Amino acid sequence: MEQLRIVAIYGSPRRNGNTATLLKKAIEGARDSGADVEEIVLRDLKISPCLEIYGCLEAGECAIKDDFQVVRDKILNAQGLILASPVFFYTVSSHTKILMDRFQSLWVKKYWVDKTPPDQKTNHRKGLFISAGATKGKKLFDGMLLTIRYFFDVLDMELWKTLLYRQLDFQDDVLKHPEYLQEAYTAGKELTSAIENYFNG
Ligand SMILES: Cc1cc2nc3c(=O)[nH]c(=O)nc-3n(C[C@H](O)[C@H](O)[C@H](O)COP(=O)(O)O)c2cc1C
Repeated sequence: MEQLRIVAIYGSPRRNGNTATLLKKAIEGARDSGADVEEIVLRDLKISPCLEIYGCLEAGECAIKDDFQVVRDKILNAQGLILASPVFFYTVSSHTKILMDRFQSLWVKKYWVDKTPPDQKTNHRKGLFISAGATKGKKLFDGMLLTIRYFFDVLDMELWKTLLYRQLDFQDDVLKHPEYLQEAYTAGKELTSAIENYFNG
């Protein structure tokens, strides 16, 4: 198989914050295992929120033309996705949610345009989700995980692993936890091997 492709998405508005630092480690791990990783920083892109005009009903294509199409094509052409978002009001950041909502056009394509049976799942691609929040509550990640599971489902991706870290607030807080950084690095490596094992049988 050709070099496997992974897309890495920075969902935080903070360029060098906790999730960005963790994501960089995961990317390093994936690259050290031979993956071709493309990095996407959502705050640098122009992506409109979904306007619910359902232009996608015609052919499953979002009618709003902006940076979404480039991101969508990259994600759909990759074998893996690493998505990182902080907890904002118990869910993902707005940048991340705006991207997710635009993928409603893919949902429409699958189920309304192409009429794919709902139980026909392929799920051969794999994703890693990384998050950090300030507090230590037991339910800190519950809300976002529902959103994330459903998002990966629309992408036909298995949510292979989640790395969720509590009590990280100021942007360098994660640097006090080298074990988290190591965990992210290892996850990037293992994600690459897991995808490779799947595709190479
Ligand atoms: C708009 C906003 C909303 C937030 N909401 C929560 C929250 O609901 N729960 C929480 O524990 N932390 C919350 N936080 C804190 C962030 O999750 C925390 O600072 C995290 O480490 C930021 O990650 P980053 O550095 O990758 O952006 C919020 C921060 C912001 C700016």
